[in-house]
This record gives sequence, C-alpha cells and structure tokens, in this order.
Amino acid sequence: MAKEHLILGIESSCDETAASVVAGGRRILSSVVASQTEIHRKYGGVVPELASREHLRQVVPVVREAVEQAHLKMDDVDGIAVTQGPGLVGALLVGVTYGKVLALALGKPLVAVNHLEGHVHAVFLEAHASGRDPQLPAVCLIVSGGHTILYDVKSEGANGSRRLSYSRIGGTRDDAAGEAYDKVARMLALGYPGGPIIDKLAAHGDSRAVRFSDPRISGNRYDFSFSGIKTAVLYMLKRDPKFQAEIEQRQGALARGERSADALRALTTQPTLDLIASFQRAVVENLVSRTLAAAHERNARSVLVSGGVAANSELRKTFEAEAADRGIEAFFPSRALSTDNAAMIAAAGYSRFVAGEFADATLNAEANLPLA
Ligand code: KG4
Ligand code: ZN
Repeated sequence: MAKEHLILGIESSCDETAASVVAGGRRILSSVVASQTEIHRKYGGVVPELASREHLRQVVPVVREAVEQAHLKMDDVDGIAVTQGPGLVGALLVGVTYGKVLALALGKPLVAVNHLEGHVHAVFLEAHASGRDPQLPAVCLIVSGGHTILYDVKSEGANGSRRLSYSRIGGTRDDAAGEAYDKVARMLALGYPGGPIIDKLAAHGDSRAVRFSDPRISGNRYDFSFSGIKTAVLYMLKRDPKFQAEIEQRQGALARGERSADALRALTTQPTLDLIASFQRAVVENLVSRTLAAAHERNARSVLVSGGVAANSELRKTFEAEAADRGIEAFFPSRALSTDNAAMIAAAGYSRFVAGEFADATLNAEANLPLA
C-alpha cells in the first residue's frame, strides 16, 4: 500500500487555536483545540484583539501537542495546511505566519486552506470514521457563529481524490444563525456562547407557543435572514415586564459564575422557556426548509450540515427526519468536528497537497476569502 501522506493542519481563524495530524486526508491521528471561550465570555462575543494575542500564546504548544499525540516528530509530517481565511485577520495572521515559518524551517510544502472548505471536509472525516460516505452531488449548509451559507458540492477529478468543487446557492443577508443564538441568549441573560444553553432549555418549552413570521426575502429564495426573529424576541422581552425580573436574577447568577443549564433553568419561567423553544424552532425551520428545497431542486443525493450550530440537537433531528421523507440522506460531523478544529483543515488541504498546489512565501491572510 502506498504511504499515506501526513498533513499537519493549523487553524486560527476565530477563537480556537487548533492543530491536527491527518493521514491520507481521512484518518485523524490527533486533534488538539485550545478554546478561548473563557476569555471572551465576559464580553459576550469574540474580541478580535484578545483573540490574536491568545493565538500567539497558544499556537506553538498546540502544534507541538498535536504532533506528539500523533506519536510523530515534527519532521515526519509531509506537508502543512493552514487556514488562510475567512475569519478575523489578526487571528488568521498568527496561523498563516507560523505555518509559513514552520514550512520553511522543516523544508515541507505549505498548503493554503479556505476555512469553509474545512467545514465541508469535517463531514467527510466523520463519514469515513463511521464507514458511511455521503453520495455526491450534495448540498452543504455551513452554519456557525460567523457563517450561514449554502453550497452545491460536486466531486471533481479522479474518483477518491476527494477533490470537490463548490458553487454558492445562498447565504444570510444579516446575522449568522449562531450569532442570532448568541444575541438572544445575551438578551435573556443565559451566558455565552448562547447555542448550547438555548439547545438545552428549548427542550423544556413549547415551540408552538410563539409564532415568528417567516422572513420575507426578495430575490434569492435560498437566502437566510435571522435579524427579524432576533428583533421580535427583543420586543417581546421589552413589552412584558415579567421577563425583566427573571433576566436580572439570571444576570446575578451569571455574575456568581452559576451558568450550568440546571442553575439557569431554575431561574427561568415557563413563558420564557416557551419563547426559547419557539425561537429555536423558527431558526431550525428556516435552515431546514431552504436547505432541503435547494437539495430537492438540484437532485442532490445528500445534505451535509457543518459548523458550530450543526451541534444543535433539534436541527439534527429535524434534518434527519425531513431529509429522509424526501429520500435524501443527511450527514453531520460529530460535535467535536462541527465546531472549529484543525483536522478539517488538514483534510481539506490533503487534495491540494496531492495535486502539488503549494503556497509560497507571499501567502497572506484574507478576512473575506470566498469559497465560491
Ligand atoms: O463553528 P463555531 O465553533 O465557530 C464559528 O466559526 O463561529 O460556532 C460557534 C457558534 C456559536 O454561535 C454557538 O452559539 C453555536 O455555534 N453553537 C450552537 C450549539 N453549539 C454551538 N448553536 C446551537 N445549538 C448548539 N448546540
Ligand atoms: Zn468555523
């Protein structure tokens, strides 16, 4: 059997410093993620300046740990894949600069990776681990704190080369879905990040209690919009003083460091749980209906869902059920591969490495790098 190329992936586009070694573009030998959630929590969102500084502190030990956990020496890796964009430019620069220096010092090729292509590959990594490969063409929804975007995914090149081509179908006109989760959680004093806690509390509410109108979007019917739903929640909270008292109680709990789902739920009344469940239902329905309509129109054989919000339990359940009704299979990465990680960057870099598409010393970070 031919030797499996070992790719070291480095990711630093937002608030996770990550490194990973992946063999043959599919087999994860190590995946190390240093999350900055604790640092950004008190600001209720990622502070770019703090993110860059933390990446600077973390990048060397995280890369070293990834190589050690793979039971390798730095010189054993065949190539280095680094996230070029999109993301926070100061954060990206840390990974890009370190990747360049490392490639130069080791005399190994460097490959530039689009972070969004990484999220697509996270689904294939998972599929490989579970022995269930998505059939192409597929429609892929990338849904995170920074992105909500829909792509057509086709295979390109020789079978098994894992070379994919993308075209953009639609995307959010305003907030990303994860951003809407985080902002609504902030309004309700549920802590940061908002997605996981809303996911948990929504299970205790009635999702039919509050009806949000479907956002009217002119032009592309595969575009998304979440700011209307978020603003509707804000008005409901402002209109009714009963919400205010419990918000203050939860603010107090958060200030004391009591942020577990159980602690916050004990301070949350049924009308608020119903509002949370209804908000989640509205977001999920939006994401699922547009994605499946796009998949149906394109005769896609699979739907791929990736990014931090892909960890949402209702989103997964709804996709699985409704995709199955239409004879399409839905694929998600595990929770660890849904959020930002470097295994997906190494996997996405693999096909470029094999094709000899190397980056040179002029490689620069690109905050708005498009995938298609
Ligand atoms: O992919 P990710 O780690 O970072 C970005 O690239 O943005 O995604 C983070 C986002 C946050 O907005 C967080 O609230 C959301 O993903 N998230 C969730 C869940 N877990 C994380 N949203 C809904 N339900 C979840 N279980
Ligand atoms: Zn991401």
